[in-house]
Amino acid sequence: MSDDDYRQASLRVWEEMAAGWEGDRTFLWDASRGVGEWMVDALDPQPGETILELAAGVGDTGFAAAARVGPSGRLITTDFSQPMVEAARRRAHELGISNAEFRTMDAERMDMEDGSIDGVLCRWGYMLMADPVAALSETKRVLRDGGRVAFSVWGDPARNLWASVPGRLVLEHTGAPHPDPQAPGIFAMASEERTRELLGAAGLEPRRMETVDMEWLFESPDDHWHMVIDMAGAIAMVLRSLPADEQAAVRERVEQELRPSAQGDGYRIEASCVNVLAA
Ligand SMILES: C[S@@+](CC[C@H](N)C(=O)[O-])C[C@H]1O[C@@H](n2cnc3c(N)ncnc32)[C@H](O)[C@@H]1O
Repeated sequence: MSDDDYRQASLRVWEEMAAGWEGDRTFLWDASRGVGEWMVDALDPQPGETILELAAGVGDTGFAAAARVGPSGRLITTDFSQPMVEAARRRAHELGISNAEFRTMDAERMDMEDGSIDGVLCRWGYMLMADPVAALSETKRVLRDGGRVAFSVWGDPARNLWASVPGRLVLEHTGAPHPDPQAPGIFAMASEERTRELLGAAGLEPRRMETVDMEWLFESPDDHWHMVIDMAGAIAMVLRSLPADEQAAVRERVEQELRPSAQGDGYRIEASCVNVLAA
């Protein structure tokens, strides 16, 4: 698939995922706030600054920064999926956030002035992009001298069984070839070495790089399955396209493999990210 075909397909995926991300927003932010708050603390937004969030989804990480820049500062919440941006706008309205603006924007080609941003946030976005060096180079271009970026990517697949098990079993079920580990996707930047290489190619230097772990509690296998079907990007799209009996067969195998993570009627599953501050 060419990069442009991938971009078109990925945009369709994330337009489809917006309803699920909006619906499960509270669960997701409660479960992952440690990752988002690490990013905001590391970025350390100051009153009056302009903070850009890329691939913001429903926007919660940026909203955690909005109070810090205060009324004289500005948060610019962006995503290439318009329904995600609309969901973020609704969320900001509910939260009473008045210093944020919203734009549909592709992080690989930013419609923004050079040197116009003090800090960039991007949680679980760069690894999904066709050309992460382009997106990181664009990040560097829009940052002022002394600006910084805080981002998060998913870490070791073996420590993210909530996604790597369904992902592998979908591939096995469909017979699709295993993708190149560096091809865009949830684990494309799981290796710290790879992330350092991409940052270097974009002229950015890591200042901090840390593994940030979470524990995700699912009250039932059903809750986990719904998260996969509602939110898991390309994996969700393939599962949704399967006939009901094939979907049920994959689900049964996922439940078997996740049995060691059973707790009560559901699961307690670890999730692990690599969080980075760079400048
Ligand atoms: C896994 S979600 C993460 C959403 C949000 N950052 C969060 O942490 O909850 C990935 C997001 O990246 C966005 N995305 C993927 N590729 C993008 C691109 N090239 N430019 C802008 N947004 C992109 C998707 O639309 C989606 O909202």
